[in-house]
Amino acid sequence: MTMILSTDDLRKLAKKRVPRALFDYAAGGAYDERTLSRNAADLDAMTFRQRVMVDVSNVSLATTLVDTPASMPLAIGPTGLAGLFHADGEILAAKAAAACGIPYCMSTMSICSIEDVRAATGQPFWFQQYLMKDRGFNQELIDRAAAARCSALMLTLDLQVLGERRRDPRNGLTIPPRLTLRNAWDVATKPSWAMRVLFGKRRTFGNLVGRLSDSNGLLTLSQWTANQFDPSANWRDVEWVRSRWPGKLILKGVLDAEDARFGVAAGADAIVVSNHGGRQLDGAPSSISVLQEIAAAIDGRCEVLFDGGIRSGQDIAKALALGARGTLIGRSFLYALAAAGEAGVTKAIEIMRNELRVTLALTGTSAVGAVGPHILRL
Ligand SMILES: Cc1cc2nc3c(=O)[nH]c(=O)nc-3n(C[C@H](O)[C@H](O)[C@H](O)COP(=O)(O)O)c2cc1C
Repeated sequence: MTMILSTDDLRKLAKKRVPRALFDYAAGGAYDERTLSRNAADLDAMTFRQRVMVDVSNVSLATTLVDTPASMPLAIGPTGLAGLFHADGEILAAKAAAACGIPYCMSTMSICSIEDVRAATGQPFWFQQYLMKDRGFNQELIDRAAAARCSALMLTLDLQVLGERRRDPRNGLTIPPRLTLRNAWDVATKPSWAMRVLFGKRRTFGNLVGRLSDSNGLLTLSQWTANQFDPSANWRDVEWVRSRWPGKLILKGVLDAEDARFGVAAGADAIVVSNHGGRQLDGAPSSISVLQEIAAAIDGRCEVLFDGGIRSGQDIAKALALGARGTLIGRSFLYALAAAGEAGVTKAIEIMRNELRVTLALTGTSAVGAVGPHILRL
């Protein structure tokens, strides 16, 4: 039995459970992966101010994220293809998140559809979308998210064009995944994945059924993205989405203080400081290195969420200290899902919860609301 004590243990297990092309799809970043590396390195370089002899017998992690009650300042961020990491991955993610009391954000590029997830969970979830060339499709997704009673819409702003993730073409990643001469041995060593996913019932983009023009349905993610995502999108389009969506609007992918101000002006209820996990502009700063200045620019006018490199409760505490109200995980979630399905996701959340609780206690803090820059050695 493998002992699982950290999210890195789940990552190692995931590597054994899913084919390399899929593991690399999650692990990789754009171009030389410099921004990807910086996300983790800059978080690692931060240190805490340890405090002693403070009564920390009751540490409270409870908060709200975009008006959604959350048992801790963590949400599962949107990741495409989660349902290929484990059969019914998005459904399992939504269930694990609901049971742990944190929000789950479903990606448009999911394998299960919005309706699949809605039918499987009673708890409202968040839905993420991009601006498409066909605004009719955006409207359709907004309507579907409203019908599924999604509690927030997350609009991702940082993918007007796709940063090349070199691992994907090198590994020949296709959607749906297929068995080829090249990956036959790799797949043969992952029989459980092959049975449940490769030969399972959901293997392509559940939200896009009927929209995939390719005749045999087989395509690379970069092809579809290049055809569908709108490189001409601008702030007026964000305002358009705002006018169409009556609920909470979260804008994801802001790395610049000026853009944060535009986002507030466009009516955001929350902004996610994010560089897409180092998957877009290689050479962009780490998310953590710009968090404080963006939080200052937003100045309480909307919520500040953060992602990029979160692997532990300690990382969550660092983001809160620099001004985030809550954090999102991408890879830490996908690895956990690949490692052990719903139980894996629950495990990852519980590991981070315990790490966060201990970190707050040892920095002399009793509640997430009391975390500030004073817990860091800046
Ligand atoms: C495999 C993968 C797929 C992703 N797909 C999406 C997506 O469909 N929509 C989106 O807004 N962000 C997507 N992201 C970005 C994540 O939401 C998040 O910003 C990023 O993963 C955070 O960094 P982390 O992986 O270090 O936690 C994806 C990230 C990964 C790793």
